[in-house]
Amino acid sequence: MKIVFAEPAKTPAGCVAVFATPERSLLGYGTALDKATKGALKRAMAASRFTGKKGQVLAVMAPAGLSADRVVIAGLGAGKEITKRSAEGAGGAIVADANGAGQKSLSVLVDVPTGCALSLPEMAARLALGARLRSYRFDKYRTKEKPEQKPTVASLTIHVPGAAAARKIYAALEPIADAVFLTRDVVSEPANVIYPETLAARARELGKLGVKVQVLGEAQMRRLGMNALLGVGQGSKRESQMVVMHWDGGRRGDKPLAFIGKGVCFDTGGISLKPAQSMEDMKWDMAGAGAVIGIMRLLAGRKARVNAVGLVGLVENMPGGEAQRPGDVVRSMSGQTIEVINTDAEGRLVLCDVMWYAQEKFDPRLMVEFSTLTGAIVVALGHERAGLFSNNTRLATQLRDAGSKVGEKLWRMPLGEGYDELIKSEIADMVNSAGRDASSVSAAQFLKRFVQGNRPWAHVDIAGMAWTKKGDATTPKGASAYGVRLIDQFVADHYE
Ligand code: BES
Ligand code: MN
Ligand code: ZN
Repeated sequence: MKIVFAEPAKTPAGCVAVFATPERSLLGYGTALDKATKGALKRAMAASRFTGKKGQVLAVMAPAGLSADRVVIAGLGAGKEITKRSAEGAGGAIVADANGAGQKSLSVLVDVPTGCALSLPEMAARLALGARLRSYRFDKYRTKEKPEQKPTVASLTIHVPGAAAARKIYAALEPIADAVFLTRDVVSEPANVIYPETLAARARELGKLGVKVQVLGEAQMRRLGMNALLGVGQGSKRESQMVVMHWDGGRRGDKPLAFIGKGVCFDTGGISLKPAQSMEDMKWDMAGAGAVIGIMRLLAGRKARVNAVGLVGLVENMPGGEAQRPGDVVRSMSGQTIEVINTDAEGRLVLCDVMWYAQEKFDPRLMVEFSTLTGAIVVALGHERAGLFSNNTRLATQLRDAGSKVGEKLWRMPLGEGYDELIKSEIADMVNSAGRDASSVSAAQFLKRFVQGNRPWAHVDIAGMAWTKKGDATTPKGASAYGVRLIDQFVADHYE
């Protein structure tokens, strides 16, 4: 979809979007079109449940008196409630309507209501970003789909006074969509296409943007003593990898922020095999790694003034003659030993070695880690919020607030010594799996043992957020890229 910004048009044709606020109050362009149609838009609103609330759209077909064939009225909500995020949602809703109606081009006539904190160019740019994010589709393997079954909108024109200013704001936002799309792409790919080496190759491509990328293979990780990670991958024919990505946009010598991701490219459960039901979902058990790769893409894409290092542990968790057995004891890079009583609790085994490596090597200012770690976090929080575990309230608050700005919500969960009881082992320093009680918390409590000192650390359990079966205003069904925008906002708000 091509997006252009233009000054307001006198006689818009084709599919045209205008805006309204509650209660059924058309903004400037809407009012003008309503007059030209002798009141058709107002009558259409009155004859429907459309009131102008945010997220609502109402299409008026072939109104007499206009050259436009389809006028879409999009609700913005009350002026003072409008945010950048809600403006993106309106852009998403408009493009979804036009695609659903088979429209090839779409013109948006931008207005802002009184009380709105966004300027016209800002509103225009956010509408465009939302439209772009919503128009993502992973359809490379659908060879039989007819053109009319595909999204049709090929060109989006945003008409706004001050088009040049809008274009400039949008240009600065575009790296967000590029990064989100990269994450959605790698998370959507099946596990026969994206496995540790091919995902590492995708990360390597960030070199073009000025990210320094280093890939470590099994031999190197063995020398480093990363046996917890290696144990998870030992049943797979695919070689495990760790990718280290540097973006040095900050002051020389400033310690980096570290972002860490779980990259289990497929999680069968290993010898503690998962049931067949929904096992295919486990192709996206690398969504944490996908988010971290997208985060690095975005920081580099917008030349963020920060030093950041992204680390992802990439493995495939398979059963087989060489697979790790329940009861095996592994010595992690930290020296702490782990009794692997359940080979399906593999994420923490991968992460504990990547976290340790990150700290030994980079002494980061803070660490934020993303993982599809536990099914139990979905039981607790559903698909509405990711679980946030942290040893540092300041960091937790910064993350939560950044998330609420970009629509990637978090809910803080507890940690505490009392939970250590759950991961006691008879034979080693800890077990990797604690059974059903508080299993998201015991997983986090396990990870906390691999944080050095009081270094600010956060673990974000995204098992309920990485993939969406419904989608939302700016996210189609499928991989969400949760985490990418969250960290972008977090960095922009506090670390640049
Ligand atoms: N990757 C899964 C968690 C998961 C489940 C992510 C559903 C997304 C959707 C993880 O490796 C896992 O298997 N966790 C186990 C832990 C248990 C064995 C302690 C779980 O949640 O059941
Ligand atoms: Mn598992
Ligand atoms: Zn897993």
